[in-house]
Amino acid sequence: MEVDAPDIAGLYRRFAEIEARGSSATYERLCLAVADDAATLRLLATLPRGKRQPNLLLGALRLLGADVADPPAALAFAEKHAADVRSVMLARSTQTNEPARCSVLLPALARLPEPLAILEVGASAGLCLPYEQYTYVYDVGDQQVRIGDGVVALPCTAVDVPLPASVPQIAARLGLDANPLDAADPETAAWLRCLIWPEHTDRAQRLTAALTAVAADPPRVIQGLAPESLPDAIEQLRRQAPEATPVVVHSAMVAYLDRAARAEFGATCRELGVHRIGLEGAEPTRDLGVRVGPGEFGGRFLLTLDDAVLGHAHPHGRELVWLG
Ligand SMILES: C[S@@+](CC[C@H](N)C(=O)[O-])C[C@H]1O[C@@H](n2cnc3c(N)ncnc32)[C@H](O)[C@@H]1O
Repeated sequence: MEVDAPDIAGLYRRFAEIEARGSSATYERLCLAVADDAATLRLLATLPRGKRQPNLLLGALRLLGADVADPPAALAFAEKHAADVRSVMLARSTQTNEPARCSVLLPALARLPEPLAILEVGASAGLCLPYEQYTYVYDVGDQQVRIGDGVVALPCTAVDVPLPASVPQIAARLGLDANPLDAADPETAAWLRCLIWPEHTDRAQRLTAALTAVAADPPRVIQGLAPESLPDAIEQLRRQAPEATPVVVHSAMVAYLDRAARAEFGATCRELGVHRIGLEGAEPTRDLGVRVGPGEFGGRFLLTLDDAVLGHAHPHGRELVWLG
């Protein structure tokens, strides 16, 4: 157990300095404190490797009521409530569901022949499936372009993006997830809120509005694992809407797969003869078999349609830059 502690400290320090810095001063401070705190490192070392991530600990602390803005108090809380922190971290996973990613996915969907039959892989609570529930508010230079008339507004800065005139017609949709979440369940909603970083208040408000909209008319999300569950799920969609264009959509999901499974996921989409739209980091996108130029794209997500890179985007859907 002790052997792992330096690795875990490094994980939290890197998270603080690379991911949190510039986006959440609260989490930057707290994760640096965790990296120096023997008791919290010991607690984390008792967890399986895949359950030690900063986002999981931070979400668990907030769910249990710790004051994450006060690092000494949060660390004392973690030590006092170690059993509870541990059991939340074992029971939950980082399933952040960000509806604003629909703003980035929409222009890619609009390039396909309508109507569409969408399979979202890694759908979480299904908030990226009901495209008609949102109003897309694109800032284009000094103008604003609004698309759709849904109840939840999704603001996005669009640079050189060929925007569609309307939301594409969707004849069928289905979600697939390793662990589907119920948007109507208050405990699930509370957990999803705890996964949003404290400073991102606009995202928290959007999440609450989207959960309410989706809970009233939830899309179907079935349990299954990519890549092996893809053929059955696509078959279901094809039966439901034989005339529609089938497309697999995934955002912030491929990072959960190992490299071999990523390659198999890309290959399975090609073999099934379906389109694939992805919004993922540069490295996972490369692993799908998409030819991506060198570089890390500075933490941006890449928007891909089949094997073409269409653009790069803010990971939470705040901005899309079209590459053509
Ligand atoms: C970070 S969430 C992203 C949710 C949503 N796509 C979005 O962009 O808001 C990733 C989701 O992928 C799911 N997932 C991870 N591995 C999976 C797999 N092999 N098959 C299906 N779903 C998976 C997780 O359970 C989680 O709900």
